[in-house]
Amino acid sequence: MTDKKINQKNEIKKEPKKEMAQSVRGMRDIFNEDYYYYQGFFEKAQEVAMYYGFKPIETPIMEQEALWTSGIGEGTDIIDKEMYTLKTKGGDKLAIRPEYTASIMRAYFEKGMQSLPQPVMLYSYGPVYRHDNPQNGRYREFRQFNLEILGTEKSIADALIIKTAVSILKEAGAQEIIVDINSIGDKESRPVYIKELVNYYKKHIADLSPIDRERLKTNPLRILDSKDPRTIKINENAPDSIASLSSAGKKHFKQVLEYLDQMNIAYRINKNLVRGLSYYSHTVFEILETSGGTDVTPLAIGGGGRYDYLAKTLGAKKDVPAMGMAIGVDRVVEATWFKKLEPRIMKKPKIYFIQLGFEAKLKSLNVVEQLRMAHIPIMQSISKDTLGIQLAIAEKSGAPYALIFGHKEAIDNTVIVRDMQNRKQETIKLDHLAEYLKKLK
Ligand code: HAM
Repeated sequence: MTDKKINQKNEIKKEPKKEMAQSVRGMRDIFNEDYYYYQGFFEKAQEVAMYYGFKPIETPIMEQEALWTSGIGEGTDIIDKEMYTLKTKGGDKLAIRPEYTASIMRAYFEKGMQSLPQPVMLYSYGPVYRHDNPQNGRYREFRQFNLEILGTEKSIADALIIKTAVSILKEAGAQEIIVDINSIGDKESRPVYIKELVNYYKKHIADLSPIDRERLKTNPLRILDSKDPRTIKINENAPDSIASLSSAGKKHFKQVLEYLDQMNIAYRINKNLVRGLSYYSHTVFEILETSGGTDVTPLAIGGGGRYDYLAKTLGAKKDVPAMGMAIGVDRVVEATWFKKLEPRIMKKPKIYFIQLGFEAKLKSLNVVEQLRMAHIPIMQSISKDTLGIQLAIAEKSGAPYALIFGHKEAIDNTVIVRDMQNRKQETIKLDHLAEYLKKLK
């Protein structure tokens, strides 16, 4: 398509018509009420995390690509097809964060957190990027609230992570929470289990889908959460990781379940739960909200687990036992049970500010600043000039009072305060305005 334009020589020039720019697939603008809900959720999550003793951390949105390729591991969806990577002009290979955990472990070493009293408990919040297939509750840009405890192998850390997440979700309105949980073992038991699993799948290789056959070579554990209907059938009788746990692994898992019982957190052991990131050991879990019924499996609103061997995978000299989880904030904010949390700064203004004429406009920003300093929020429509239009907007806004600031008031240093209900008006000196407004109901 072309647009015709006449240039200075009166020649008609054809210009290609530009399409209006669009947002990227799987990424959205968040504004208005939604923006406040996200902010409200974050404030609540942050508050709960702080009560439990977590401290904030923000890591860069980009890291060396190798951080995640070694941390999350080849043979996982994130590394094989979902990570956004780029090469800088200087030749560095960077990636945009597909998750937080590897960054947090890097920061733990880089910031010398080993020398702090252990464990170190951190929370973080922000956008995460995965080139996933966009569909309901699945985006390419989404937000995670992340909790991590680094520097202890104790089962109480596993319990504390799950408990904090459950408390956050309940504060956000979750009614029926269930934790799907499993233990995938440690350095000793995992190879034994994987060998058993591989032997089992080899017996059924003819029925495995090409993807699952490939996984048998790259990451056999992933076959356990295959979506292929034939594999799902095969998985019903697959060997159970819990049966091959070492005695220390069994004890750890038993203790975690005891904590959950003690805290009345509903859980079910899901022997096929392995999770899509390969840094996990021992406890892995996902959190579901089932108040909408159990006919369709709801999407996980959070998930995590232990990652005792991640540090060495990233090049550290010694391992740092750690446990963590992430809440999928978009899934929470979009849930029918979400409580529509509002941020603390949200105050419904009770004042609609009307200015009339240039003289008043000139001074009006000083009046608004005076009100801001007195913590009185206002609404206003700076581009409108007539009293009628502004009063009509004030009426619609639901503000109980309007301030009318015209030419005369600007000269006299006064303002008219109008009660929108009974239409009574009073002229108040600007010097006394904040004080006067604070007394109004
Ligand atoms: P994850 O299970 O990959 O774990 O993600 C955690 C949560 O993020 C999921 O339960 C889900 O609610 C949300 N989520 C994942 N993908 C999407 C998507 N495409 N769109 C919307 N929401 C999504 C991790 O990321 C680990 N780093 C968690 C962790 C922390 N493990 C230990 N520490």
